[in-house]
Amino acid sequence: MNLNIAVLPGDGIGPEIIEEAKKVLLAVEKKYNHSFSFSFGLVGAAAIRATGNPFPDETFELCKNADAVLFGAIGDPEFDNNPKAKVRPEQGLLAMRKKLGLYANIRPVTTFKPLLGKSPIKPEIIDGVDILVIRELTGGIYFGDRGRIDDDSSAYDTCTYSRAEVERILHYAFKEALKRKKHLTVVDKANVLETSRLWRETAQQLAPQYPEVTLDFMFVDNAAMQLIQYPKKFDVMVTENMFGDILTDEASVITGSLGMAPSASAGEMTSLFEPIHGSYPQAAGKNIANPMGTILSAAMLLESKGLVKEAQDIRTAINCALEIDVVTEDIKPSSKMGTSDVGDWIAANIKLVDARCLESQKQ
Ligand code: IPM
Ligand code: MN
Repeated sequence: MNLNIAVLPGDGIGPEIIEEAKKVLLAVEKKYNHSFSFSFGLVGAAAIRATGNPFPDETFELCKNADAVLFGAIGDPEFDNNPKAKVRPEQGLLAMRKKLGLYANIRPVTTFKPLLGKSPIKPEIIDGVDILVIRELTGGIYFGDRGRIDDDSSAYDTCTYSRAEVERILHYAFKEALKRKKHLTVVDKANVLETSRLWRETAQQLAPQYPEVTLDFMFVDNAAMQLIQYPKKFDVMVTENMFGDILTDEASVITGSLGMAPSASAGEMTSLFEPIHGSYPQAAGKNIANPMGTILSAAMLLESKGLVKEAQDIRTAINCALEIDVVTEDIKPSSKMGTSDVGDWIAANIKLVDARCLESQKQ
């Protein structure tokens, strides 16, 4: 298969983790005789410094014309520490999501056997967790009207959802539930928020179109608690933009490290694949960031193109790496392995997945 992949490394550890994902994709390309091409674009603080715009038109064109986008991370302390900055790297991320129409952000939460003991949650609670969190990505408080009023003495952010936006993401979630255990939980705050009541009402109206799906509702505060106490209760969760942002960072604790969590964003144009963690500026340039979330995002990219076996090879190689402690320090504090060592090992083992690596999986 020919794939033209737009690669946006972004800020902080972005370039380092993207490099490792690219290495692994090249190993897959070689093993299966595919033809992958990579075209690089600027986004975030890197783009502000070069062009003044955190999501330049050139990058937008690159993404539109690609078969998929692989993205690293955005964010820079120079801007975080300056609340008065007029242009912020994160605006590039939001513009990218909005312009590419990426309304559905898919964040799988699963466990890896070798990491069961590494989560602060007891292994018996998390063993076998398999949740798909679907986060609405182009609406809500992230995109609502905001500003300062009363001579700068007050600030406001508003959360707005149209019925059409809610229907679109709920249909997406019902369909994903049909492919799985057919249990959909809508997470909201309908006891307080009007937007949440619109979500609930819309879900109830759509439910008869999906009679096989068991639909339930949960308030977000309760969901935050249940996710840690009874994570196996969940199958597909769907929620609005900010609740999804917060719940998925929380859920990454089940997996063992935020650095392990991948995501896919789909919508009206090219789909985008990115780890859920941020730019982790303290680690930038140190070769210590965990590249696995990005490499697993690359696996989701391949899967979205029907390259299921290829994606499975990546997951197997990652499991093998975890088993023999080929990991960065977030997983094992005493590890001497850096970002590039982990990437090298996974890439080298893609070609061995059928032999040695699979053997070690069985043991
Ligand atoms: C994420 C990130 C972003 C978000 C930030 C960097 C704006 O935390 O992708 O989850 O809040 O959406
Ligand atoms: Mn986040």
